[in-house]
Amino acid sequence: MALIEISDYNTPGGWTDPQSSTQRSRDCCRQLEEGNILFFRHMPFEMPKADLEFLTGVKQSDSALHKNISYRPKGDVLRGVGSAPPEATERLHQVMRSYSQNVTAFISRLLEPYAGRFRHDFASYRAIEEQGRDLPVHRRNDLMHVDAFPTRPTRGDRILRCFTNVNPAESRVWVTGEPMSVLAQRFARDAGLSRMAAQSSSPAGRLRRTLRHVLGPLAGKGAAQRTAYDEFMLSFHDYLKERQDYQAEKQGKLRTEFPPFSTWIVFTDGVPHSVLSGRLALEQTFIIPLSAMILPEKSPARVLEKLAGQPLLT
Ligand SMILES: [Fe+2]
Repeated sequence: MALIEISDYNTPGGWTDPQSSTQRSRDCCRQLEEGNILFFRHMPFEMPKADLEFLTGVKQSDSALHKNISYRPKGDVLRGVGSAPPEATERLHQVMRSYSQNVTAFISRLLEPYAGRFRHDFASYRAIEEQGRDLPVHRRNDLMHVDAFPTRPTRGDRILRCFTNVNPAESRVWVTGEPMSVLAQRFARDAGLSRMAAQSSSPAGRLRRTLRHVLGPLAGKGAAQRTAYDEFMLSFHDYLKERQDYQAEKQGKLRTEFPPFSTWIVFTDGVPHSVLSGRLALEQTFIIPLSAMILPEKSPARVLEKLAGQPLLT
């Protein structure tokens, strides 16, 4: 696991030659798929100063604009603003829309092999100080975990996230660990991989799959669409957070301070991470198909299937 800094993205000659940028683009995808983080010390896409000032000007104590603010590009919907005044809500909606569009254009250029193939997931504005949040264990961001979505199973596709620290004064502090290819070897069996794989190939599991195939979206959303892989990843998320010895160990972990206005990109379903501190960050999630991976054997689904000795995505 390493932090790979890209310092010439916006400099003349950096990514302007189409041939070399295509090769570099592939290299970037490969770095991410191997479990590394791409890091940009300066924001690599456009964000108007007025938008940044609006975001940083919102005080934590005096506004309802602080819950779980999410923007859904599909449908252009802003959620989580509570009882905020209509003008502030409209302004935030505009800022989030513009941010989401600019990040998408940036990712499409930087990670060319994924361009046109990813699905837009949500963007979020993380305005709350992460340090000292009083949350139940499974919801704590300061405990190491890999991401899995309870209501939006990826069915083996990858969760790619682009973060930007918009706090003008404070770094956002993360700890990351060894990727799934290492982590799964250590913990997947103990976390119940064999049991879940067996359930999936049982008569009840086969019936569930048949119903899902026959009914398609009519089978329901969320849990109804989960494969054995999705079930495992959800429980692995909780398992890791509960495992105090893993949380406490230092070996194989990297503490990183992301300075003001820096940006970083990571597959958060494959790289365990925790957020120790930080306030005011923007994030856009992309779901990248497993079929778009340059190194599919490194993806959590393929790593787990190999360990389980059977398919987990049917
Ligand atoms: Fe996470």
